[in-house]
Order: sequence, then structure tokens, then C-alpha cells
Amino acid sequence: MAWRTPYDSVRHMQKLQVVKGMHDVLPQEMPQWLQIEAAYRDVATRFGFGEIRTPVVESTDLFARGVGETTDIVQKEMYTFVDKGDKRLTMRPEGTASAARAYIQHGIGGQEPISKWIYAGPMFRRERPAKGRYRQFYQLGAEIFGAPGPYADAELIDMLVQFLAAVGVDNVAVELNSIGSGESRARYRQALIDYFEPHASKLSEDSQRRLRTNPLRVLDSKVPIDKEIAAGAPGVLTHLQPEDRAHFETLRELLEAFGLAVSINEGLVRGLDYYTRTVFEVKDKSGKLGAQDTICGGGRYDGLVELLGGSSVPAVGFAIGVERLLMSLPPFELASTLDVFLVVPQAALRNEGAKIARALRQSGLRVDADYRGGSMKSQMRRADKSGARFAVILGEDEHARGVVQLRNLKSKDTKELPVRDLAQYVESVA
Ligand code: HAM
Repeated sequence: MAWRTPYDSVRHMQKLQVVKGMHDVLPQEMPQWLQIEAAYRDVATRFGFGEIRTPVVESTDLFARGVGETTDIVQKEMYTFVDKGDKRLTMRPEGTASAARAYIQHGIGGQEPISKWIYAGPMFRRERPAKGRYRQFYQLGAEIFGAPGPYADAELIDMLVQFLAAVGVDNVAVELNSIGSGESRARYRQALIDYFEPHASKLSEDSQRRLRTNPLRVLDSKVPIDKEIAAGAPGVLTHLQPEDRAHFETLRELLEAFGLAVSINEGLVRGLDYYTRTVFEVKDKSGKLGAQDTICGGGRYDGLVELLGGSSVPAVGFAIGVERLLMSLPPFELASTLDVFLVVPQAALRNEGAKIARALRQSGLRVDADYRGGSMKSQMRRADKSGARFAVILGEDEHARGVVQLRNLKSKDTKELPVRDLAQYVESVA
């Protein structure tokens, strides 16, 4: 048998690619991601939110119970596996169930009456990849636990709108609905069954199943024939009982008082089972996102904490899809982050150059150099390309006198400076 080296298997291997439906965020894209996260934290801090990080992996049971057995997420889309200890685990498809689990586990309700949490991180759903639809995507989320009234809903929607304005999203619509709770829900459910039943045989297979398990979800179908039939379905708002109605009306009044434009969409039911009363979505109206135009979804989920084993704690929240948010934004101008690019043409002076770079970095400047060395001309070309504000040039003559040439790469002015004055000078020039 011929001798095989480990490299043979590498050579015969398929080209390694990122997993289908997942994507890399490269360094040139990262500044925009960081800017968006920073803006989110800034707005959330102004609204009194703290931040939580929960694990990416949770027990499968959490999502099965929390998100709902009848949802597409639980039935078709979860990345679930059995670990070496025979535990069924799932890569989180969303953040709300995890937040509620942490809220219960740490007894937060006993420590404070109201908790306001944001989170940022990757979520996993094995959906069919499409424009704006990934299998690993990022969410910026917010959850408020312990506040039953519509004021929390209004504050949350206000925070969302303020954040979107802060990052420059302008062409969006906020859609609002109430799917009621308790008695309202039971009555509406029956009204939907009564309406859909005579059309049942024409509905898609999924919708026929949903009609039995969760008739509200038939309204959420994207199948054309389902949509056509659903268009004639009775509206939810006329089925709301007095308390649900009062909640919805006060929320509308508050949003109006804030000057926030929202449109009522009675067909908005959301795809997760935990919602009660308020539901809302933000849709991109620029046309840039195609079919996946929902940037953010959220709503109230007053029963989830209790369903997961906690006490009866009302809650409301939302999550923004970062990839979709980015797609709706105008092109990002990448600004250079370098102050100084060091140019050292003589190989003999490279150690001196490295020492200067180190000292400048220690004094807080952002400094880079080209490890490869090379001619003055090629290093200057790299300095220009780096986008740095200044090139610091160290030649033999300068080294002998303890100075450097400082070239402003925008104005092209060059001046000579003692090495010890360099950091202060660069910092003083805006
Ligand atoms: P969701 O509507 O499933 O809600 O997701 C929220 C947002 O995440 C969507 O509006 C979308 O922007 C983004 N998103 C969802 N799936 C994908 C995907 N496959 N690819 C790219 N982006 C996606 C929730 O997750 C709830 N936990 C929101 C919530 C929080 N409700 C109450 N609190």
C-alpha cells in the first residue's frame, strides 16, 4: 500500500466552506456591527436596561415548552442533538425562553419587582436559506419582566423606534395588534375554527394541521391560497374582552401621545406560541429586503414565566434581526482607525522602528507598520493605503539626531519632530 501523508486527505477533501445558511462577519464589516451594538446599548441604558448573556445551548425542553410544540421553530427548525451524557440539547432559536429560564432560575422576581434586560447574540434556526434568512443570525433583544400594564409595551416600542432612528433606519412601519388573552383568545379561536372549517379542504396541509392545533397560526401562513381565505377571516379586535381591550386602547393612546406612527394590522399573530395581548413588528418599506422584510418582532407574553415553572409574572419584549437591519441601512463609510503608519526603509533600523511603534501604542495611539520592510516608496504606498492620518518616517539621518519625519497623509505636509514629542503632537492634531 502506498504511504499516505496527512496532506493527501487534505488534498482530496472538498473545499471547506462556511455551513450553508451561516456567514462570516469580516473585519471591514465589523465596525458597523459594533456601531449598531453600541447604539443599542446606549439607547437601552437610557431606558434603564441591564444586559444579560445566556448560553447558546439550552435543554431542548425549554424551547419545546417555551416557544411551543406547534410552532415551525420547534417542529422543523431547531438544531437539536444528544450530547455524550445523553442530554437532549438545542442551539437556541431565540432569546426569550432563555431569558425567562434565567429569570426563574436566579429568583430575580423575589429580588426586584421589575427587571429590564437586553441581550445580543447569535440564534440558530434551520430554515430554508434566502435573502435575509439565515440559519445562524444575530439578534438584539429586550425583555421586561414584572410590568403588566401597557406602559411597559409603549416604552419598549418607543425604545425600539429611538434605536432605529439612531442607527439611521427611516423607511419602516411599526405594525401593532392584540391577540388577547384568556377568554378573548378562547372566543377568537372558536370564531376562527367556525370560519375556516368550511374551507378546510382548500387550505394547505400545514394550515389544516394548524387549524386543529393553533388556528391563530393559519392567519400567519405565507401560502397564497391560505392568504386568500384568511383575508376574509373575522378580526381579532372585535373579540377582545374589556380588560384586553382597555390594555390595547391605552397602548394606542400612549403611542399617539409619543407621536409614534403605528398601523394596526389585525392579521399580525406572530409565529411563537407564548404571546398574549400586544404583538408588534417593524417592517422595512424600502424594498431592499424582499420577502424577509420584518426587521423586528415582539410582544407581550404574560404566561411564559409560569409555563416554565416560575410564578405568574407578566412580560413583554422584542428582538431585532441584525442582518436584516444592516440590509435596510444605507452603505457604511468605513473610516480608518489608524493614527500612524510607521515607515522604516533601512533594515538596520527596524528594531528602532519597532520600539517607536511600541512607545506610541503605549501612549494610546493606534499604530501599524509593515513587517515585511521594503523600499521607502513601497512602504509609503502602504502607509497611504492604510488610511492612517500620519506616516512616521525613520531614516538613518533622523535616527542619528533622535528625530523622525512626520508626514500628514491628507495635506502631505511634512515636519521634523523629536521622537519624544511625537505622541503628544499626533494627539493634538484632530
Ligand atoms: P422572531 O420574530 O422569531 O421573534 O425573530 C425576531 C427577528 O429576528 C425577526 O424579525 C428577524 O429580523 C430576525 N430573524 C428571525 N429569523 C431569522 C432568520 N432565519 N434569519 C435572519 N433573521 C431572522 C423572536 O425571536 C422573539 N424571541 C422576539 C421576542 C422577544 N418576543 C418577545 N420578546
